[in-house]
Amino acid sequence: MTLMTEREQAQLTYRDQTFALPVLEGSEGEVAIDIGKLRRDTGLITLDPGFVNTGSCSSAITFIDGEKGILRYRGYPIEDLAEHSSFLEVAWLLLFGELPSTEELEAFDEDITRHSMLHEDFKRLFAAFPKDAHPMPTLASALGALSTFYEEPRSEKQIRQGIVRLIAKMPTMAAYAYKHSIGQPTIYPRNDLGYASNFLHMMFATPCEEYEVDPVVARALDLLLILHADHEQNCSTSTVRLVGSSQAHLFASIAAGVLALWGPLHGGANQKVIEMLEDIAAGGGSAKEFLEKAKSKDDTTRLMGFGHRVYKSYDPRAKILKQACQDVLSRMGGNSQLLDIAMELESITLEDDYFISRKLYPNVDFYSGVIYKAIGIPVPMFTVMFALGRLPGWIAQWLEMRNSPEFRIGRPRQVYIGATERRLS
Ligand code: CMC
Repeated sequence: MTLMTEREQAQLTYRDQTFALPVLEGSEGEVAIDIGKLRRDTGLITLDPGFVNTGSCSSAITFIDGEKGILRYRGYPIEDLAEHSSFLEVAWLLLFGELPSTEELEAFDEDITRHSMLHEDFKRLFAAFPKDAHPMPTLASALGALSTFYEEPRSEKQIRQGIVRLIAKMPTMAAYAYKHSIGQPTIYPRNDLGYASNFLHMMFATPCEEYEVDPVVARALDLLLILHADHEQNCSTSTVRLVGSSQAHLFASIAAGVLALWGPLHGGANQKVIEMLEDIAAGGGSAKEFLEKAKSKDDTTRLMGFGHRVYKSYDPRAKILKQACQDVLSRMGGNSQLLDIAMELESITLEDDYFISRKLYPNVDFYSGVIYKAIGIPVPMFTVMFALGRLPGWIAQWLEMRNSPEFRIGRPRQVYIGATERRLS
């Protein structure tokens, strides 16, 4: 497949020389100057802290138009997938490029179901962590440990099996991490339950009591997983690609992605949003006062769940989640105070010049925490939920990188600004 077409050339004039640089165009019209040979031909490198203008790869997985608020997986709009698909169907789509047939989906589901147990020795690993350990580093450690239980997948067949193991075992690891943190015995997966329901069962059942999965909760969780499933070259995905580019073990690359996701400017924002809403509620609920702090240059407070490097309009995932919050809360009869505060914050920002001029809108993390809370997910587990959702995207990006004809180890350059040579004597 040709991923990009060569269009025309850009010219770079430096000192008294002009250099021609190829200009490539993606299938949705994104135009890029190819600087792959820039240093070889000119001695120059480019500088772009934060990779604001740097394309690190070509990819056929996810398309985002941040100006128009468009998100598509393999060409399918996120709105359609959210309405009509299941998480495992979307995982297959991301991994293999097409929606699965009924038979393929059934076989995939069965394969995942049959690999969800963890080796019994894992229990000792979880037991070694302090009770108040955050579940994100615990999950990352468990993923690292998984690579000691299974040899590195190399052939296509082994890689396929590695993918199934990851998708099957990650919910079990996440639930074990939670059970350890509250001092309860771990609960084995149940093969008669679907992916989201099984996770809820492992989180909330106890050996003394069955947990009856509420279908509204299971569907809400499945929707959340779909909405988080991929988002092209964000911080954690770029981490997975970079670590994987050294030909590190698949499981280790995913563990690195989990740790990158943990940060509050990335996936960790969903936990921070709910803490922010709870703080506002505890302080009497003044959204306006909080916003003044978020706008002030003398204060480091940010409105968590707002703003995005790529979206300069409303994040389409936030739009779906806002509606889902209203549906879930009305069907479950939960307390809507936090949703009310969130909606008040949003409506003030939409009229406020600070947010308008900087194009800051709610992102996926703004409303997700309200649903997680409504369906009973404990706050420290919010970012783990994001990781469960993002897993197929990380794997798909890893696979695409490893199979790409452009494959090379990732190794950015720098502009050195330190001391020039000096001697001890
Ligand atoms: N609250 C207040 N001001 C903000 C916010 C915010 N949430 N986000 C950006 N700004 C301001 C920022 O201060 C800067 O103002 P100025 O031009 O006066 O210096 C301007 O907007 C541009 O911000 P930036 O930090 O240069 O933008 P960025 O593209 O580097 O950062 C971001 C993007 C998502 C890290 C940032 O918007 C942010 O910190 N948001 C809050 C954390 C958050 O919700 N993260 C989740 C992101 S989406 C899901 C995910 O990736 O996991």
